[in-house]
Amino acid sequence: MSDPTPPGDPRASVRRRVFVVGAGIMGSGIAAQCALAGYPVTLEDVSEELARKGLANVGRAFDHAVSRQKLGAGDREAALARIDVAIGLRRADSAEIVVEAAPENLDLKRRLFHDLEEAAAPGAILASNTSSLPITAIGQELKDPGRLVGLHFFNPVLQMPLIELIPGHRTRPDVVASTRAFAESLGKTVVTSADTPGFVTTRALAVLLNEAAWMLYEGVATRDDIDAAYKLGFHHPMGPFELADLVGLDTALAILDVLWDGFRDSKYRACPLLRTMVSAKKLGRKTGEGFYPYPARP
Ligand SMILES: NC(=O)c1ccc[n+]([C@@H]2O[C@H](COP(=O)([O-])OP(=O)(O)OC[C@H]3O[C@@H](n4cnc5c(N)ncnc54)[C@H](O)[C@@H]3O)[C@@H](O)[C@H]2O)c1
Repeated sequence: MSDPTPPGDPRASVRRRVFVVGAGIMGSGIAAQCALAGYPVTLEDVSEELARKGLANVGRAFDHAVSRQKLGAGDREAALARIDVAIGLRRADSAEIVVEAAPENLDLKRRLFHDLEEAAAPGAILASNTSSLPITAIGQELKDPGRLVGLHFFNPVLQMPLIELIPGHRTRPDVVASTRAFAESLGKTVVTSADTPGFVTTRALAVLLNEAAWMLYEGVATRDDIDAAYKLGFHHPMGPFELADLVGLDTALAILDVLWDGFRDSKYRACPLLRTMVSAKKLGRKTGEGFYPYPARP
């Protein structure tokens, strides 16, 4: 894994395969970004239906980019043709890098990487898109934790220029260097964080979203006024409730619980409103309702 050719470079045609685990919000965005940069991509999920749904979301993200004149129609087709779908991890064996984007759950990620260590080629890098779980804890039971690294993309992936790189305590320096080169080959700017819960960005974001939920819960202001206050008062492009709906309330809650477990600091105590909404399956855009309603897409 040593080919940091920039996006659009003709050498992109020799890029090796990226295997993306989980075809949800982030996995589909990561697959889209890698395909645009010239990588062949396999997008994997637990069922054909979910993998295909992820691929359809890639098409929609490309359509959005075409409508904003950020992508030509021909490039859209070429990038889409680079992505295929899979069920199960077997086809990870042909990938140079595996990017895991399954739900934010430590046991699930540990199990996945245990299986990926067998399924992937021995030299392949294993990367997790976790937004809060310590990489060292995810890789605790691996035979070779040196090949596991954190590679944290942002949502929506095609539009967000940042990637957070998180070396675990056992990650080898050559793996860190190759992963940085990979991230830069996607046209992203890389910041590095120590391996502590929530890294830099999620730690900041979690408090911001949670505080908004507490204010709504306490009746300090309405949903719309809180969103307007963050947008107009701080120049945030989205209000906290709009952002929570985009992220997914289940993911936002899982992150707060990871921060609480990791720091035992009351500032990470999740607002009960978030927990109730997750129990009610009001997870945001992905379930059609969160703090706002979202009409069903055809
Ligand atoms: N949503 C965000 O804004 C955001 C941003 C950055 C990072 N992340 C992180 O990315 C990861 C994924 O989050 P998401 O928002 O895409 O979640 P999501 O719920 O949209 O998607 C997760 C996908 O993983 C699939 N999955 C579940 N178990 C699996 C398994 N064993 N093997 C393969 N696939 C499996 C699910 O079917 C689902 O399609 C999480 O670790 C999250 O913390 C999320």
